[in-house]
Amino acid sequence: MKKLIAGNWKMNGNLAANDALVRAVVWGIREAACTVAVCVPAPYLAQVQMLRAGSQLELGAQDLSQHEQGAYTGEVSAAMLKEFGVRYAIVGHSERRQYHGETDAVVAEKAKVALAAGITPIVCVGETLAEREAGRTEEVVKRQMAAVIHTNGHCISEIVVAYEPVWAIGTGRTATPEQAQQMHALLRAQLKAATEHADRVRILYGGSMNAGNAASLLAQSDIDGGLIGGASLKAPDFLQIIAAAA
Ligand code: PGA
Repeated sequence: MKKLIAGNWKMNGNLAANDALVRAVVWGIREAACTVAVCVPAPYLAQVQMLRAGSQLELGAQDLSQHEQGAYTGEVSAAMLKEFGVRYAIVGHSERRQYHGETDAVVAEKAKVALAAGITPIVCVGETLAEREAGRTEEVVKRQMAAVIHTNGHCISEIVVAYEPVWAIGTGRTATPEQAQQMHALLRAQLKAATEHADRVRILYGGSMNAGNAASLLAQSDIDGGLIGGASLKAPDFLQIIAAAA
C-alpha cells in the first residue's frame, strides 16, 4: 500500500504564497513513490485545482457539511467540493471538535456524506493531554472510531484514519514512534473487527510531524502516512517528509 502524505494548511495561505508553494510541491513530487495531497481552505480550491492540473498532487478540503444542501449559511457541501476535483476531506479534526463543537456523531455523518459523494474522508481521532494523563487515551480514541464505524458499516474500509494526539498538534511535541504505533495497532484491530479489508485502510499519524522525525514514525508497521500541519506550509520541509515516505 502506497503511503499518503497529506498537508493540512489550516487557515493559512494567500494567492501569492499558495502559487509558490504548490508549484514547488508539484515539481518536487514528479517521481514521488507515495500519494500526496494538500487540504486547502475552501476559497483556494479553484486556484489549487488549476495549479495541480496534470500532476499527481491530489486536492483535499479541511471539512465539509453533513447536510446535502439548503439553508446552512457558511457551509460547504460534498457536491460543491467534488466540482473542484476534491479527492480527500479531513473530517473531525480536533480543532473542529474543540472550537466548533463537532461531536462523534457529526463526524461520523460527515464521513458518510463524503463517501457518498466519492470523496475519501480523512477521519481524525486523538486524545487530549488531560485524557492521556488520566489514562483514558485508548477509551477516547476507541469511542471516536466506533462512532464512525457504526455509521459507515461496510464502507469503513474506504476511509482514511488520522491518529492525531491533540497534545502533539502544533506544539512541537511529537508522539514517539512507539506511542504512535501502539495507537495505530489498536485502531487497526478495531477496524479488523469491523471489516475484512482493514489492512487496506491507511492510518496516518499527525501532530508535529516534520522533516526530522518523519522517517522514524513512517517506519512503524501500522503508520501508513502523515497528516502534516505546520511543516506542509514550507515546500522543502513538506518534500523532505514525502521523501521519507518513499
Ligand atoms: P501540526 O498539525 O503538524 O502543525 O502539528 C497537524 C494537524 O493538525 O493536522
